Amino acid sequence: MTDRLVIRRATLEDYQGVMDIGDIYEGRDYLPAMYEKYIKWFNCRVAEKNGEIVGFNGERLVDGGMTLCTVAARVKEAYQGQGVLAAILKDIYEFYQDKESVKYEAIATGNVNMGVNGDKIRRRFTQILQMVHVEIIGEVTDFKPNTMESDETKVQELTSEDLKEIFQSKDSCSRLFPGERIVPNWYPYRLLPENIPLMIDGSKFWGTKCSDQSKYTTLTVTEFYNLRERIVLKICVYGNDIIDIKRHFVKHIQNLRHLIKLRTCSLIMIQLIHSLDCQDAKTILSVFEKCGLTINSDFPTNTLFIFEREIK
Ligand SMILES: CC(C)(COP(=O)(O)OP(=O)(O)OC[C@H]1O[C@@H](n2cnc3c(N)ncnc32)[C@H](O)[C@@H]1OP(=O)(O)O)[C@@H](O)C(=O)NCCC(=O)NCCS
Repeated sequence: MTDRLVIRRATLEDYQGVMDIGDIYEGRDYLPAMYEKYIKWFNCRVAEKNGEIVGFNGERLVDGGMTLCTVAARVKEAYQGQGVLAAILKDIYEFYQDKESVKYEAIATGNVNMGVNGDKIRRRFTQILQMVHVEIIGEVTDFKPNTMESDETKVQELTSEDLKEIFQSKDSCSRLFPGERIVPNWYPYRLLPENIPLMIDGSKFWGTKCSDQSKYTTLTVTEFYNLRERIVLKICVYGNDIIDIKRHFVKHIQNLRHLIKLRTCSLIMIQLIHSLDCQDAKTILSVFEKCGLTINSDFPTNTLFIFEREIK
């Protein structure tokens, strides 16, 4: 089937064709809201069969050109399991085959895809990180952020310079970031200053320092967008100081209150990823419950896996 496929660059005009690939992530797909940005940030490709778009994938080089990071893979249900993604990936590998800087390929995926393609992925890639993915939901009308007492003023938005300082400290890197990767927007980056301009376009970074200001104790990364009637806030959290993490969450809840005022939305969805143990996670998630939101226990994608392989 692959020889009848045409692989070409995706354009803004392909929006509807790409959306017609179907509803993935059970109505939680970010691509409808982020398509324009993805076309800007990534080299996106579509797979076409007789003029019908049946597959999509984005990629870009990160880590100063060392790592090929592929994102947003999707194939129409009727064509899945027939080599469509493999054909897009082949086109990408051919494109980069003469580029000597490229040494690795990295992907991030969830447990749902792992259930289908896990064996194949594990055959080719090595897992470097696994994080818990939690979904917190609620109606805007039930959201009561004012009930939170807080000292979230200690949470500061980080600049590129702050991130550079963190990445240059071996202690901060090994203490904060498991697997020595940071995963803004669910994509893995090495802790290299070259990645900062890529990461900061689209995500915000927040930090708190310990009382003597000598080191960062917690770092969070946020991103938000509107998805139909929902406002979606993504939060990735690093560190294990529970009090500090709670402060971050209160800050993000207060920010969310302002965002809601500016936008028309009736539902809140917070997508959170973390590496905390069960008990700590339970404690910090109670912050969201206190302001009227609910932890969605039916959320099917509850694990984020990061894989990497060396490109020979
Ligand atoms: C995941 C999905 C895109 C795979 O597409 P497909 O055309 O069915 O896949 P193929 O038939 O080409 O076979 C899977 C191949 O892609 C690889 N693969 C699977 N998921 C991958 C991913 N997210 N990134 C890179 N490679 C992936 C597998 O290792 C396998 O490689 P192989 O050539 O060594 O066998 C498709 O099943 C899909 O759209 N699923 C729903 C959306 C989804 O879960 N997307 C993943 C987002 S991370």
